[in-house]
Amino acid sequence: MNIDEIIKNRRATPPRFLAKKEISKDTIQQLLDNANWAPNHKSTEPWRFKVYTGDAKNKLADEIYSLLIKKKKAGEQINLSKADKFKAGIELVPVAIAIILERDIAERVSEWEEIAAVSMAVQNMWLTATAINLGAFWATPQFLPFLNEILELKPRQKSLGFLYIGEIAMDYPSPGRGDIVYKVEWKE
Ligand SMILES: Cc1cc2nc3c(=O)[nH]c(=O)nc-3n(C[C@H](O)[C@H](O)[C@H](O)COP(=O)(O)O)c2cc1C
Repeated sequence: MNIDEIIKNRRATPPRFLAKKEISKDTIQQLLDNANWAPNHKSTEPWRFKVYTGDAKNKLADEIYSLLIKKKKAGEQINLSKADKFKAGIELVPVAIAIILERDIAERVSEWEEIAAVSMAVQNMWLTATAINLGAFWATPQFLPFLNEILELKPRQKSLGFLYIGEIAMDYPSPGRGDIVYKVEWKE
């Protein structure tokens, strides 16, 4: 695939469309190495990742689910059907990579720039996955702010969700895009 094909073939492939089959550590490392080459302002390199596979991934799903039940009982607004769906999703996929933003101590650049840099790192992984015929999905459930302790985040870190990776079991249809012509003004 050339660059245009990789970009246009990249899909958000939901967990139930991914195969549970293990992904090799070398392949996951390839994605992470490419993530690390994302552009970033003032060389802050704000992306951090935690790779969950096997028992650690299933333990994570259980811990998150138990926490959400506890929060719900304590009166927090938790949508339990979404919590169920999240648990099922993370159990279905072979790899869940926690996407973490780490601000530098001096906060030399604004948070939005750091989020942009982490997002570009995620896109690097997503496009790499597409190029090697793997599917990926970025999950950003509303309860992310509750997960700091379970994800063992440090004070300057924030969760930006999970990137699931797996072989594509079934193609997920593209929602397509509106024509770029309506999103661009040319000034000549
Ligand atoms: C920052 C970000 C967060 C996302 N979070 C979710 C999510 O929580 N659940 C979901 O179904 N899709 C999520 N997506 C994926 C989009 O739904 C998906 O990209 C969109 O439907 C377009 O499909 P495509 O990527 O296959 O073209 C997210 C995408 C981005 C960029």
